Amino acid sequence: MPEVITIKSGREIEMMRAAAKITAGARSIGRQAIRSGITTKEIDRAVHEYIVKNGGKPSCLGYEGFPAATCISVNDEVIHGIPGKRIVHNGDIVSVDLCVTWKGYVGDCAGTYACGEVSEEARRLMETARKAFFEGIKFAKVGYRIYDISEAVQHCVESEGFSVVRDFVGHGIGRGMHEPPEVPNYRPAHGAGARGNPRLVKGMTICVEPMICAGDYAVRILPDGWTVVTVDHSLAAHYENTILITDGEPEILTMADDI
Ligand code: MF3
Ligand code: CO
Repeated sequence: MPEVITIKSGREIEMMRAAAKITAGARSIGRQAIRSGITTKEIDRAVHEYIVKNGGKPSCLGYEGFPAATCISVNDEVIHGIPGKRIVHNGDIVSVDLCVTWKGYVGDCAGTYACGEVSEEARRLMETARKAFFEGIKFAKVGYRIYDISEAVQHCVESEGFSVVRDFVGHGIGRGMHEPPEVPNYRPAHGAGARGNPRLVKGMTICVEPMICAGDYAVRILPDGWTVVTVDHSLAAHYENTILITDGEPEILTMADDI
């Protein structure tokens, strides 16, 4: 995995677009699979089949030993939930996060979706995660730095009375699922030097991914070694796309019409 920020060539951008297109399609499949009574493993299976059918490889499967194609995180689970026997019920909010590798290039996206009727708070939380992504990428342009995105995300989330997770961040992406730079969802108080806070350059591909909580931002990892949950059991939501920095507006590589 590269230790420096990679600037993609035109040819590489084509590969990233192709990988991201399958990734976005797979997220739609995951969203459509959510219904009362389904298990998280069944959602995972539907997404996994779609990825393979479209010529991609589920990058999460086997990544540091992760056992599935997708991360499915329900309610107070923030990220990295392991698909399994858990049944999704009416009123739950379900995060689907996945990566696809296509010809060596990776796409990454996530979204949190409702199963049936959910609380007003849950709906506002999901909408805020999505809105924070779009507020953040207003600064995903040449002339700005990474933390300008971070600050916009944080401001959006906190002005709704919610909090942003500190312990996990967005990231660069390319041949590696996680490349530099880190893309925090808050403006770090210290170390805001050029190294942590690089300028945005045309040809960079990054994942902007607000992970937000209805209560406090403290999280912990369950004994399964993966699932990240809020300490206070408040609801969490996640929204992520892989984007390309261009001469003008950022290109959302993992965008689909329905998300
Ligand atoms: N989109 C997730 C991330 O960036 C994918 C994790 S794959 C896993 O962290 F295998 F680590 F779960
Ligand atoms: Co990611």
